[in-house]
Amino acid sequence: MLIAGNWKMNTDVPAGRALARNVAAGLDRSDADFSEVDVAVCPPFTHLQAVGEALDGSSVALGAQDVHAEEEGAYTSDISASMLTSIGCTYAIVGHSERRQYYDESDAEVNAKVVQARAHGLVPIVCVGETLEHRRSGDAESVVRSQLEGALDGVDVPRADALVVAYEPVWAIGTGESATPTQAQDMHAVVRSDLAGRYGEDLAAEVALLYGGSMKPHNAAELLGQPDVDGGLIGSASLKAESFVAIAEHATEA
Ligand code: 13P
Repeated sequence: MLIAGNWKMNTDVPAGRALARNVAAGLDRSDADFSEVDVAVCPPFTHLQAVGEALDGSSVALGAQDVHAEEEGAYTSDISASMLTSIGCTYAIVGHSERRQYYDESDAEVNAKVVQARAHGLVPIVCVGETLEHRRSGDAESVVRSQLEGALDGVDVPRADALVVAYEPVWAIGTGESATPTQAQDMHAVVRSDLAGRYGEDLAAEVALLYGGSMKPHNAAELLGQPDVDGGLIGSASLKAESFVAIAEHATEA
C-alpha cells in the first residue's frame, strides 16, 4: 500500500513544514502497524527543502508534483529530475489531469517525463483518468488505455517498485464525489491487465495502483479494500494531518 498526499498549490512554507511535522507525529502516535504501508507527501517545489527537513528521521517519503523532461537548460521556471533527487525526492507525480488540462500536457510529454524520472531513479506516479464526458459516452476504459499507452510507450520498468500508476477520474477530483468502489476496482483491473501485457503478470501484480479523487477518511476503507486498489493519491484530505493519517490507518487494514 502507498498513501501519497498531493498538496497541489496549497500552504506556504511554514504551514507546509508544520503539516509535514504533524503527519510524521500523527503516524508515530498511531497504534496502527504501518510496516506494509508507505506514506509520501508531494508539496510544492518551494517547500521541498523545508518539508524534507521536517520529515528527516521519519518514514514519510518526499515527492514532487511534476518533473521536467529535459536534463537541464534554458527552461525558465522548470525543475529537473536531478534537482529533485538532490533534494531527497523519491517520487514525482507525472501527467496529473490538472497539468493536462491547464498546460495542455500531452501523452508524449508525459512519456518524456516518465522516461526522465526513471533515468534518475525517481519513481513516477503516472496519473490517468477519464472526464465525465468520456465516462458518459462509454469511452472511459479506452481513454485510460490510451493514456497508459502514451505514458508508458517504450518505458522500461525493471522492478515493480519503479512505477506507480494513479487512476484519478477527472470528475471525482475536488468534487467530493469519489468513484464507487466498484468503478475504482473495474478501472484498476483494466490498468493491471494493461501493465501485465507490457511487463508481464508477475511484475504487474506488484505495481502499486493508487486511486485518487475525493478519497477521504469516510470512504477510504471501502476503496482501499478493493483487490486492485493498492493505495491512494490524496488531494484536499492530505492538507490536514488528521485526515491524511486516518486514511493511512485505513490502508493498514486493507
Ligand atoms: P482530491 O482528493 O482533492 O479530490 O484530489 C485528488 C487529486 O487530484 C490527487 O492528485
